[in-house]
Parts: sequence; structure tokens; C-alpha cells
Amino acid sequence: MSRQLFWSSRDDQMDSSCLFFANRKLKLLMNVKASSAPAANWMGHWLMVPISENPLLNSHLEALDQESGGLLTRLREAGDLPTKAGSLLHVKGVTGLGASRLLLVGLGAPEVLSTQSLDRALTAAFRSLTDKPNLDVGVVVPPAAILGSKTPLEFVSAAVTAANLGSVGQDLYRTERARHPLAALHVISSENMASAIERGAILGEAMNLTRELVNRPAQEVNPVTVADRCSALAVEYGLTCEIFDVPRLEAERMHSMLAVAKGSAVPARMVKLDYRGAKESSSHVALVGKGVTFDSGGLSLKPTDGMLTMKCDMAGAATVLGAIVAIARLKLPVNVTAYLGLVENMVSGTSYKLGDILTARNGVTIEVLNTDAEGRLVLADVLCYAVDQGAEKIVDLATLTGACVVALGEEVAGVFSNHDEWSGQVISAAKTVGEDMWPLPTWDLYDDLIKGDVGDIKNTGGRWGGAITAAKFLQRFVGGKPWVHLDIAGPAFQSSAKAWREAGATGYGVRTLVQLAESSVIDL
Ligand code: BES
Ligand code: MN
Ligand code: ZN
Repeated sequence: MSRQLFWSSRDDQMDSSCLFFANRKLKLLMNVKASSAPAANWMGHWLMVPISENPLLNSHLEALDQESGGLLTRLREAGDLPTKAGSLLHVKGVTGLGASRLLLVGLGAPEVLSTQSLDRALTAAFRSLTDKPNLDVGVVVPPAAILGSKTPLEFVSAAVTAANLGSVGQDLYRTERARHPLAALHVISSENMASAIERGAILGEAMNLTRELVNRPAQEVNPVTVADRCSALAVEYGLTCEIFDVPRLEAERMHSMLAVAKGSAVPARMVKLDYRGAKESSSHVALVGKGVTFDSGGLSLKPTDGMLTMKCDMAGAATVLGAIVAIARLKLPVNVTAYLGLVENMVSGTSYKLGDILTARNGVTIEVLNTDAEGRLVLADVLCYAVDQGAEKIVDLATLTGACVVALGEEVAGVFSNHDEWSGQVISAAKTVGEDMWPLPTWDLYDDLIKGDVGDIKNTGGRWGGAITAAKFLQRFVGGKPWVHLDIAGPAFQSSAKAWREAGATGYGVRTLVQLAESSVIDL
């Protein structure tokens, strides 16, 4: 029996829930409407009103205050206005306005209002409402004076993204969900906000796509179903999609990646998604994602606690998918290719073993010291392939090491690079969108730690500097091209909720990649 036959018979055994998952279209959750009526007259369940710490700047509150019989003045005099960034006050039973419920949202002082604090205040505000279904929520677009360096258009885009993020949680399989989509979001402004609404929705929906893929369990999300989902999305958004099955991956000599998949009943896939928004001569950026749909550790088996959340180990792949869908929908004038390296790291009689020597696509031989250091084995071949396809600049995203979480904590990604200018661009894109990341060194001295005894390199570098030695391993496969590796093991998936985000998948990285695509029109 050829391996091909074996794999395809497995494909037929996917149960119907998997097929449903794989063929799903990106559901547009949010119905967003523009409303030019005065806020005081707007009728709906909740009227959301942003408030500055500086009372003199709150001119948009005057009409609301008057029509509500001085409600806001009384709150201010009692010291009850929530003016600090991210603080909220829910007021019910309001009379005199079209809406009987107000949600006052503090933005703090305009001078220090950042993208991150604005996003967090708005997402917290929406999360606080979406425990009930079918709400009509109006959001008042505040005057530029209270937004500091942000514009009303940026406010609207942030609000629409926040409404999307705040209305879906990780409880996708609960009979009674904790979060519900809005009936509609009404953007209340006398200006035309259409482009900002569109942008906000595209970003929010892309992040929710990433989150959904990460939050769904490995029983549904495996290399085959993710690849199928990619091809459905590619049709929907005009991307070119190429799916590499096992025989093709063998023909491409991707034996490092294939070794990881050997223990699984589900075959490996690589997905290549092309978006061409610029002329062919302009520079070509590759986004590479680690897509280990479940990481049991393989024969170096993880203990239960460490394995529990390992459905999240394809977050890098889900992030590059979300990003390229958003880039395509925004029609950015760039050329981007996303590569998803999809495998399941499992235990069986066919698993790859400790001591095995793998030959990667570029001929580098790898000693397997630990089958749980599998992400780098997958990325090795995918990075090589991207380079061979003519990628001029590369960013990879991977839930690669626990060591990175030890170094930087759960909220911050590690940045590793061979090129200061390109990493500077990635870091500045992240800063613009308010995603925290921080660089760690990739000096030559770390190469010693992964030098092989039997082959060229080992797949682990021992106890010290674990996030860095993983990055140094990857660097062997980028052919000297400008490359940035983002270790998102911390921020991709969160064990507990915060006021401003759900627990589970976060969608971290999507906004940075979209921003990077927008800014990388500036060529190196
Ligand atoms: N997927 C894990 C890394 C991870 C840990 C992601 C925690 C998200 C949260 C990765 O494949 C892994 O197992 N890494 C090992 C590497 C070690 C064996 C060298 C680790 O970090 O322990
Ligand atoms: Mn692992
Ligand atoms: Zn892993």
C-alpha cells in the first residue's frame, strides 16, 4: 500500500463536524451602521460615550447632559465619572435621551492615550455588554480633542474591531454562551466614517478567524482541515492557494517537517497563499507560521499540564492566515505570501525518535535530541521553501518555546532577527498597533550550543537560552535573507481573561502583520 493511499483513506474518515469546520466561510458577525442623528436622540439598548480625564475637552457631553436633565453634571460633581483609561460606568434608567442606558467609557488624558489603551478601553466596554444577546449599541464618536494623537477615524476603526473581539469568546461549544454578537453597532457621527468602519471590521474579523482556529480543539483542527479551510478562504478573498500533500512534500525534500508528522494518523500539509497587490517587481514578503495542530511532545511526551493547551500550537499559522486575509480585503499595494507548516506531533509506532538524523530541504542534517522541539523542525523546511520561492523579507510566527514565556512573560512576544532594519520595521509596526514585543540577541556565540555531534545541528540547545537557541536553529534555514522570528508562545493564548480580552486565543500578531504590510511599501 502506498503512503498516498493510506493518507487519502484517512482523509475520507474525517467526521462531518470536521468537514463543516473546513468549509466554513468567514462569517460576518457584525452589522455596523452609520448614524448621523444627534447622540441624545439615538434609540437603542446602550449608548456608549467616551470620556476624557480633562473636563474642558468633553464638549460632546453637553447635549447629552442637558437632555438627560443634568445627569452627567451630577455624576461629575459626585466624582463618579469614569475618566481613567479603561474605567467604565453603566448607568441604567436614564430619562430624556433616546437610549435609556449609558455606558461611560474612560479614555484618560489625551496626551497619553495610546493605541493600546484605546483598544483596551473599547474592548473592555464591549465585553461588558455582550453577555446579553441581540443588543443595539450606539457608540458616540468623540471630538478629536480628547483623542490626543489619535483621530476620530482611528477611534471608529478601533471601536469596530473591539466590538468584534468583545462579542466572541472561547466558549464555542457551550450550550449557553457567555458572549453574544450585537444585533447592530451604530457609529454615531456627523462625519463619513465608512472607510474606518470597513477597516475596523476587516481587522476584527481577521483576528476572530485566527482566534476561532486556535480555540477549536485538535479533534477538529488538524493539518487536513486547516488546509481545506485555507482553500475555501482563498476562493472567498481572491488569494491563490496551493496545498502540498505528503508526496509533494517528499518531492520537495521537506524531510524535517515530515519527520514530525510521522507519528500522526493525519498527514502533514503545507499551505501557500499568495496575495499580489503590487507589480511583480516590487518586494516580496513571506509570512511563515508554525502550524502544529496538536503538540503532544511526541515520544518526549509532555506531562498533562503542559499538553493541556497544545491545541494552541498552530497559532503562528492561524495568525499568518488571518493577516493575509485582512491584507487582501484591505487591498494593500504589496506582494505577500503566507506559508503554513501544518503537522500533528503525536506518539505511535511510526513516530520519529530520539537520535534520528533528519535531512532538511537545504541538506542540513539535524540530530533529534527531543521530539518536543518539533516546531523548529517544521519551520526549517518551510523557511527554506519560502527562500527558494524568492522571498526577499521573511517574518515567521511560532509558539516555539516555553523559555520565551519564562524570559518575557505571557503578554510579550520575543523578537529574533538577522537584520536590524527589518526587525526595526517589525517592532515599529507592533508599536503602532499596540502589540508588545521585545528583542533578544542572536549572537554567534549561541551557535555553539546547537552544534551537532553526529549531524550538523541538534534540535535543542540545552537548558540555557532556550528561546535564543531555537531562533539560532531557524536562522540556519533562511539563507541570509532579512528575517524576523516572533516567538508568540506567551501572547497567542491566555489562561485567564482580562477586562480587555477573552481567555484563550488572542489573535496577537494579526494587527502587527497588517501594519507591517502597510509600512513595508517602504523598501529596504
Ligand atoms: N509548543 C511548545 C512551546 C510552547 C510552550 C508553546 C508553552 C506555548 C506554550 C514547543 O514545541 C515545545 O515543546 N518547546 C519545548 C522545547 C524544548 C524541548 C527544547 C519547550 O519549550 O519546553
Ligand atoms: Mn513541542
Ligand atoms: Zn510545539
